[in-house]
Amino acid sequence: QTIYLADYQPFGWTIDSVELTFRLFPEATRVLSRIRFAPNPKAPSSGKDFFLHGELLRLISARIDGQEITPVVTPTGLRCAVPSGPFLWEAEVEIAPAANTALEGLYMSNGMYCTQCEAEGFRKITYYPDRPDVMATFKVRIEADLPVLLSNGNPLGQGAGWAEWQDPWPKPAYLFALVAGDLVAHRDSFTTQSGRKVDLAIWVRPGDEDRCAYAMDSLIRSMRWDEEVYGREYDLDIFNIVAVDDFNMGAMENKGLNIFNSKLVLASPETATDDDYARIESVIAHEYFHNWTGNRTTCRDWFQLCLKEGLTVFRDQQFSGDMRSGAVKRIEDVALLRARQFREDQGPLAHPVRPESFVEINNFYTATIYEKGAEIIGMLKTLVGDADYARALDLYFDRHDGEAATIEDWLRVFEDVTGRDLAAFKRWYGQAGTPRLKVAETWEDGTYTLHFEQENPATPGQPHKDAKVIPIAVGLLNPNGDEVVGTTVLEMTQAAQSFRFEGLATKPIPSILRGFSAPVVLQRTTTSAEQAFLLAHDTDLFNRWEAGRALAKSALLAMVQEGAAPAPQWLEALAGLALDPELDPAFRALALRLPGEDELAQALYDAGATPDPDRIQAARREASQALAAKLAPGLPALIAAMSETGAFSADAKAAGRRALKAAALMLQARLDAGQAATAGFASASNMTDQVGALSALLAIGEGQAELQAFEKRWGGNALVMDKWFALQILHAAPERAAELTAELTAHPAFDWKNPNRFRSVLGSLAGNHAGFHRADGAGYRLLADWLLKIDPLNPQTAARMSTAFETWGRYDANRQGHAKAQLDRILAATGLSRDLKEMASRMRGSI
Ligand code: ARG
Ligand code: ZN
Repeated sequence: QTIYLADYQPFGWTIDSVELTFRLFPEATRVLSRIRFAPNPKAPSSGKDFFLHGELLRLISARIDGQEITPVVTPTGLRCAVPSGPFLWEAEVEIAPAANTALEGLYMSNGMYCTQCEAEGFRKITYYPDRPDVMATFKVRIEADLPVLLSNGNPLGQGAGWAEWQDPWPKPAYLFALVAGDLVAHRDSFTTQSGRKVDLAIWVRPGDEDRCAYAMDSLIRSMRWDEEVYGREYDLDIFNIVAVDDFNMGAMENKGLNIFNSKLVLASPETATDDDYARIESVIAHEYFHNWTGNRTTCRDWFQLCLKEGLTVFRDQQFSGDMRSGAVKRIEDVALLRARQFREDQGPLAHPVRPESFVEINNFYTATIYEKGAEIIGMLKTLVGDADYARALDLYFDRHDGEAATIEDWLRVFEDVTGRDLAAFKRWYGQAGTPRLKVAETWEDGTYTLHFEQENPATPGQPHKDAKVIPIAVGLLNPNGDEVVGTTVLEMTQAAQSFRFEGLATKPIPSILRGFSAPVVLQRTTTSAEQAFLLAHDTDLFNRWEAGRALAKSALLAMVQEGAAPAPQWLEALAGLALDPELDPAFRALALRLPGEDELAQALYDAGATPDPDRIQAARREASQALAAKLAPGLPALIAAMSETGAFSADAKAAGRRALKAAALMLQARLDAGQAATAGFASASNMTDQVGALSALLAIGEGQAELQAFEKRWGGNALVMDKWFALQILHAAPERAAELTAELTAHPAFDWKNPNRFRSVLGSLAGNHAGFHRADGAGYRLLADWLLKIDPLNPQTAARMSTAFETWGRYDANRQGHAKAQLDRILAATGLSRDLKEMASRMRGSI
């Protein structure tokens, strides 16, 4: 059943307050609710049919104003007659958290009770209008024979076997949370700018408390940053974070009680890589920032999901940029946007940042809604400028505090502050697809003109698109390397538009789309000499990286398509940069990273070719080999220079040095048959170095002894073992990847019901491009087997992992046939979840 944005109707009642009592037992938990409803004056009379959502609940009793009633109960909820005025609803239901394998609602993870209610999990806890525009204050009583009992808000009281919590801030049910278990806290505190002291605690299983320091430090820095940059102060006496081992997503912003996948909390130098540290910092910030962008102001309905997610991703990206190098962070974010969101936008799952319909909302927690949603905020900020952005945000927080808002509300604050008309800009929310931006130039009598043309390709259900408003940040350089026009934002509003720069002495070299000022594909015919020039001279660090990226991409595509040798100009430019001691090591490491196989496949497909995964893989390997040979004289010294001797630091500077060292080690392995990497593995004193050395060995088909040693050392640590599973599959030779994956699914540590473990094995198969897209269909078959196996237990994880198939249309008829056969096999399965069914149908082109 499809839900449409156009059908939105307010709920017929408002809720004054909610009181919940939980009597926790694994097989039979009792949930008692007391809810005060009143007619909603803003709802039309057609909406006065009283319906409460409820799924997998056993109704014990229901009362209205104290009178026992017998509602009509269906698998999705209940209906009953209600008084015309305000009334008290009381119900008692029974649920079975231990049997909840979907990890949505109230469930158990390693003996601990926890919840995940976004988007529609609360209806698996009790009967309720489970929609984000119904906001209420919650009082919660938990009864259980467990030492730690947590819920949202401030503690009211506790005793032996019980605890009570009161959340003074009205919230939708998706922000409800409850945790109960045998947990220990890592504590600290934060004093807000107005002088209120907030108690902070990160709750983990006994034994994990010494791996919480970085998450706590990130939380404190996030709280300070949101005060300083957005003027947002925390609003409760206590802030709790809980780490959970079985979690479908990254983390959840429940009011005052954030629940996290343990991989995004627990870190120590020995067990976490620098990438893990960076993700912890950004997700801790993300969830904390939701307190204002998501919780105090929430979404009217789930079509507005990007209202909170796009904005909160944008805020966490700003934060990480401020904590680390802004340019390096931007490069990483754009690389991820292209790898995930552009891929989505160019395939059968393309959808607008604000969709118009959905079958299962869990399928819309996508790169488009999160990452493209964040890009839209960035473009708005670029267009209106920093000062007006700040004013608009102040107005947004002020005007919509305590409300459930829409994209229209969001854009209106910008219109009111700036006097601009954002009707054309709004198309970014409604139209899917990645615009192509074509550029040409003319030079005449000291006038340089850039001619832009935008093309908005058709996407499923959207054959025609209007022109977008595209902010194009441009700078101009002289042939001697001086900047003659500093960064200027051109505002493109039409399908084709030209911009003139006058009074120039010589024809300039343009640096276009600086900082990636819009999520578009730039199409420009240029020379490798010009790209090498920009790589060496651009003042915009992002575009320096971009120039190197373009060089690498054209070199690799020529290798795949024409069997060309690696372009000398590219090798030359990259070698100069890699060994330039003036440049930030983190930036150099990023520049050395070759475009991925999936990205190259997409580029070939865009150019009208049929990508051959084996040839792409071979070309990439050959390019690495050539780069290694080119850099050979400098590599040992580079590795030595980047090797830390003092105490471990997780900061961006130290991490950048380790990243460059790992990149150099990866190349060196191609020259010395892994000698340096073997030594590096043996002497590694932190997980980043260990993973770097192991990856370098696996990439050249070595490292079996090291894999064994790694397993022996880390067999007891699930998060580290996830890396062990993932690394060997990601680096497996294409002809071995499916077989190795199948073998590892028989490993005693393959706990397939754990989403992290499932992802580390099957997700890595999907991430091994040539292995997954193997010509005999073995990769597709194995993944489909496991999707069908996990779907009845955990539909969300099945649906998410199924996106591995979204690119099937790029490949040859043989591969397409194999992929379609697997999608059809999935669709033919009996009892398929709504989640996986929607995904497979969309990918198959049948929705
Ligand atoms: N709001 C959470 C976050 O972005 C994600 C929750 C996703 N839940 C889901 N069922 N898909 O931080
Ligand atoms: Zn979020």
